[in-house]
Amino acid sequence: MKQDTIIILDLGSTENPRIARLIRNLGVYSEIYPHDTTVAQLQNSGNIKGIILNGGKNRIVDGKAVEILDEIYGMGLPILAVDHPTAKSENRLESWPDSDKEIEATLRSFLFKDCNAEPNWNTENFLSDQIELVRRQVGDRKVLLALSGGVDSSVVAALLLKAIGNQLTCVHVNHGLLRKGEPEQVVEVFRNQLGANLVYVDASERFLTKLEGVADPEQKRKIIGAEFIRVFEEEARKLEGIDFLAQGTIYPDIIESGTKTAKAVKAHHNVGGLPDDLKFELVEPLRQLFKDEVRACGLALGLPESMVYRQPFPGPGLGVRCLGAITRDRLEAVRESDAILREEFKNAGLEGKVWQYFTAVPDFKSVGVRDNARCFEYPVIIRAVNTIDAMTATVAEIDWPVLHKITNRILQEVKGVNRVCFDLSPKPTATIEWE
Ligand code: XMP
Repeated sequence: MKQDTIIILDLGSTENPRIARLIRNLGVYSEIYPHDTTVAQLQNSGNIKGIILNGGKNRIVDGKAVEILDEIYGMGLPILAVDHPTAKSENRLESWPDSDKEIEATLRSFLFKDCNAEPNWNTENFLSDQIELVRRQVGDRKVLLALSGGVDSSVVAALLLKAIGNQLTCVHVNHGLLRKGEPEQVVEVFRNQLGANLVYVDASERFLTKLEGVADPEQKRKIIGAEFIRVFEEEARKLEGIDFLAQGTIYPDIIESGTKTAKAVKAHHNVGGLPDDLKFELVEPLRQLFKDEVRACGLALGLPESMVYRQPFPGPGLGVRCLGAITRDRLEAVRESDAILREEFKNAGLEGKVWQYFTAVPDFKSVGVRDNARCFEYPVIIRAVNTIDAMTATVAEIDWPVLHKITNRILQEVKGVNRVCFDLSPKPTATIEWE
């Protein structure tokens, strides 16, 4: 509970998450705080062993240089000042080295020599602390969770099941835009294997009806998002005596909502937007974790690797890969071709090596020949990219034999498709998704 903690004060660095992650990888818990945090606020955040004043290129806020409150120096803790010329500290670095290895060396000495920190941050301790905290927060009351089958909500579900068992109700909304086999896996793992109280809602027809004739990508996203909340709300109203809503918020969601020195990259959104009379208290047991730590928890909690190492999948699902106005035949072609692509990437040992891969089906046809006769059918586009943060991406180089095999299978097995293309565009100028 009171694990040793290193505080990173954000004085304008863009490297805060990298440094926090490196410290945690050395077994010491680390959190990022805004530059104007007070000593009183810090004292609530665990057993602080040292502070890193992390300066950098955003060191100006509202036209003023970022300064550190004098009382922080007065705490008597070891301080490491990085790229912040006015810091009153003996221990200084001009900047962080580019390579993680050299840092690691600097950090190791700061953590274990200067701060005398115990490397007691690990998955087992984290899980047992959180299980205890959730039990204390929830008592004998009930919790609701929207379980999408994505990594974060799946790990929250597994953790809460350990902590409070059947006081948790999971709702899995199938919007009809999930990948082949996904809703079945959620039901199999959570209801059949882990014994969760799971409400499965097949709302496919309802979503497809709402989306009929809608071609604009942003309009499609809005409809899918709004309808999702409506379906979830209807299910929540049917349940009685629920006081808490659990969410798979993770640390990057909080960092990306914007710090005081850097503008928000994207708004932090989970199942927001519920009406006022359905206000719940939040349970967010993963809010301190980076994605790799979430995955480690998932494995420790016994979730299957296919769920824990699932590649990213957009909320609107296959809806933004069935390009233009969604039709059932093309949606089926996206789902079937995506399943073939995933199976063959797995067979070729590419699973976990390529960051994201999927197929898209456009809303136009091309001429081909099938059984010696002219055919007029849809193409399938294969996309396979690598990226660190999804802001830029490069195209993954896939061996020709793998691509040939996938192409042949798609042409033989997917109805209404006579052509397969491979998208060679990096981001920018393209985005990862087609819509
Ligand atoms: P783009 O297409 O913007 O995608 O290069 C970057 C990453 O974000 C995912 N993505 C989404 N995720 N809702 C999501 O939850 C969305 O509407 C959405 N659009 C794109 C995309 O799959 C990629 O990983």
